[in-house]
Amino acid sequence: MLQVSDLHSYYGDAHVLHGASLRVADGEVVALLGRNGMGKTTLIRSIMRFEQPTVRQGSITWRDEELIGLLPYDVARRRIALVPQGRRLFASLTVLEHLTMVKPAGDAKGWTVERVFEIFPRLAERRRHRGDQLSGGERQMLAVGRALVIDPELILMDEPSEGLAPVMVQQLEDTIVQLKAAGLAILLVEQNFYSAIAVADRVYIMETGKVVHESAANDLPAEQELLTRYLGVR
Ligand SMILES: Nc1ncnc2c1ncn2[C@@H]1O[C@H](COP(=O)(O)OP(=O)(O)OP(=O)(O)O)[C@@H](O)[C@H]1O
Ligand SMILES: [Mg+2]
Repeated sequence: MLQVSDLHSYYGDAHVLHGASLRVADGEVVALLGRNGMGKTTLIRSIMRFEQPTVRQGSITWRDEELIGLLPYDVARRRIALVPQGRRLFASLTVLEHLTMVKPAGDAKGWTVERVFEIFPRLAERRRHRGDQLSGGERQMLAVGRALVIDPELILMDEPSEGLAPVMVQQLEDTIVQLKAAGLAILLVEQNFYSAIAVADRVYIMETGKVVHESAANDLPAEQELLTRYLGVR
């Protein structure tokens, strides 16, 4: 349902994506792996139609509709949500304010604030706390919750495990499994190879702006040479 084909993205004249292609099917969890600076966030930002980077070649289709030419708001209305790298919460807004400032794109029967509080009881307890009063794990829950309240069919998660303690990474994996079971498709950018293969159906590896490998998540651990070359996993 999401299909990225031969994507070329630029920051000014800097050519960062060199023909990246991938797809995510309905209800599928797909991991996008790759070392620092390989273009993972650039790909995610291209899909969300942020002002930067600019896409000069290729296509991004969602349910057979071209997204290039749309604005970020239009992309969200098509039920694609983002959990950005670094969370990007508002220090002065409360948990509840973060969750009620966006309008759902789907019907009211889908993901609601109440349902977000069901999967993250901790957020319900802290609903009156401000962004700058939350722990790292709570911030991550809120970043995921804020994506859910637009009632998405696809969530793009950009390194959600970054900076989390191992026990929180485990909880995040459980959340991803839960969201998949609820029917959501997820494109998960990860540097943590073990976390990615624990939850993903399929994986892509990115290297300097291109997707250089695609396989079932289960098959990746056996690819020792690839893992060492592209991910530094030994
Ligand atoms: N706003 C920007 N302006 C100019 N160049 C940028 C900008 N953002 C990223 N780049 C460059 O584009 C390349 C890809 O960066 P990107 O953020 O997509 O990598 P990444 O794979 O997400 O890395 P990380 O794992 O560290 O988040 C890098 O060389 C980076 O320096
Ligand atoms: Mg990144």
